[in-house]
Amino acid sequence: MSATPLLKVEGLKVSFGHVEAVKGIDFELHEGQITTLVGANGAGKSTTLLALSGLVKKAAGRVMFDDRDITGLAPHKIVSGGVVQVAEGRATLTTLTVRENLELGAYTRRDGTAARAQDMEQIFTLFPVLKERSEGLAGNLSGGEQQMLAIGRAMMARPRVLLLDEPSMGLAPIIVQDIFRTLREINQQGLTIFLVEQNVRQALKIADRAYVIETGSIVLHGTGRELLGDPKVQDAYLGH
Ligand SMILES: Nc1ncnc2c1ncn2[C@@H]1O[C@H](COP(=O)(O)OP(=O)(O)OP(=O)(O)O)[C@@H](O)[C@H]1O
Ligand SMILES: [Mg+2]
Repeated sequence: MSATPLLKVEGLKVSFGHVEAVKGIDFELHEGQITTLVGANGAGKSTTLLALSGLVKKAAGRVMFDDRDITGLAPHKIVSGGVVQVAEGRATLTTLTVRENLELGAYTRRDGTAARAQDMEQIFTLFPVLKERSEGLAGNLSGGEQQMLAIGRAMMARPRVLLLDEPSMGLAPIIVQDIFRTLREINQQGLTIFLVEQNVRQALKIADRAYVIETGSIVLHGTGRELLGDPKVQDAYLGH
């Protein structure tokens, strides 16, 4: 865990008016790992992700990605650089087909259609249901299938880091397990993942590295396994 991080955040602060939602946090993502940021409602998880993606203004702090300072980059530059957030709340475009949604994920790429078609095939291998339903409207997919489509769409941008905001939200436990299993699989193929979750147990189970955020501050960090065994985490988040 001592290698240079792929992405490093230092002193990140985000304020909304008088409310300091993120109060100067530090964390790092290491290549090939799943890192999770867990915490309760309103702790500052989504704000942290939005700040990484350049979608909310940072009051302070620095984001280094692959030895480049990406702190002030426009959102589309961050995406084309390889830091790609899965759309929140499974915001798939319901009146487009599954295939059209996937194609839109590649909008920042300048490579040819052959490469995209190949990537789409890989996504279909990962999520066979998306292949079966490729010509159907995204709006007719179940919640779990829409989450898979949202992940597939983000992968069409050829991310080096995939950011996810509570992919388990609103899904039945068995579907959550499916999604998390797939995230593991994607990770094992080499993709670095940053997973924000309220489902603390499941997130810590699949995470190599984990951070706990409370009211805008990181209060604990360690390996997923360490935090699963931490009495403070068990009391506050795991119902022990
Ligand atoms: N656009 C906004 N304007 C004002 N306050 C905001 C805005 N977005 C978030 N906040 C506030 O910032 C704090 C952190 O919110 P955030 O959405 O980051 O929490 P979260 O950890 O993602 O919570 P949840 O698990 O409920 O999604 C909260 O107090 C929230 O009310
Ligand atoms: Mg949130």
